[in-house]
Amino acid sequence: MGSPVLLTDVAQQFAGRGPARLALDGVTLSIDAGEFVCVVGPSGCGKSTLLDLVAGHTRPVRGSVVVDGAKVTGPGLDRVMVFQEHALFPWLSVRDNVGFGLKNAGVADAEREATVTEWLSKVGLSDAADLHPHQLSGGMRQRAALARAFAMRPQVLLMDEPFSALDAPSRDRLHVELQDLWQETGTTIIFVTHNVREAVALGSRVVVLSSGPGHIIGEVAVGLQRPRVVESDRVVALAREVRGLLDAADQLGITAPRGGSEDGHVSI
Ligand SMILES: Nc1ncnc2c1ncn2[C@@H]1O[C@H](COP(=O)(O)OP(=O)(O)O)[C@@H](O)[C@H]1O
Ligand SMILES: [Mg+2]
Repeated sequence: MGSPVLLTDVAQQFAGRGPARLALDGVTLSIDAGEFVCVVGPSGCGKSTLLDLVAGHTRPVRGSVVVDGAKVTGPGLDRVMVFQEHALFPWLSVRDNVGFGLKNAGVADAEREATVTEWLSKVGLSDAADLHPHQLSGGMRQRAALARAFAMRPQVLLMDEPFSALDAPSRDRLHVELQDLWQETGTTIIFVTHNVREAVALGSRVVVLSSGPGHIIGEVAVGLQRPRVVESDRVVALAREVRGLLDAADQLGITAPRGGSEDGHVSI
């Protein structure tokens, strides 16, 4: 079973040219052990920043991040990140990519091989074990990235728009597979996306962030049976509800104006 995650009044700020800018402001979010939470919000609102904080890659300028009852002070093997792309080492085979984290963690050869074989099978890549990333489709690459992440048996899986670069059929298949793996493992998942429908299809709950500095403007509980697919009517209806939260925040002037280099893109 995964770990609970608690963010309390978290703010994050980056120094840049000119005055420091807040990237997140006053984010309080409690995630239960084994929950699958999706976080949506426009580009630049602080979604990746939030995952980095939970991963322990950065420390907040205010507030606290607590995982399994302990304050996060740095990265740990209990938390694993999956990115949109460039996740695999091009010079390693699929097998060695999937085993990479385990090797780093000092897992003995025999156990590592058994775990890698098991996870390659679970994600349908047994026959691709000896290929290299450039020989794989985008969907297969993300499958390998999933296998590498789950092979570490993380308590918390942090997913940063992992399927955004995929074509629709590959993405739909991975949605179903990820929901299966989540149900089988009970891992806590925080899944970030700018795609509202994807968030509703995957999450038990969708947390909505305003544009930067990101803060939580609402959330929508998704009580639909799994596996869900993005085209289903119920998913589309709930996605509209989420979209409504984003639009209402815009109209109330809660969010920063659209335009500029971060175009605030959210798709439904
Ligand atoms: N390392 C960094 N240094 C300076 N600014 C950053 C850094 N990381 C993110 N930012 C800024 O913080 C804001 C939030 O970024 P990010 O979390 O990447 O947004 P999102 O993932 O929602 O698109 C943006 O304005 C971005 O430019
Ligand atoms: Mg991002």
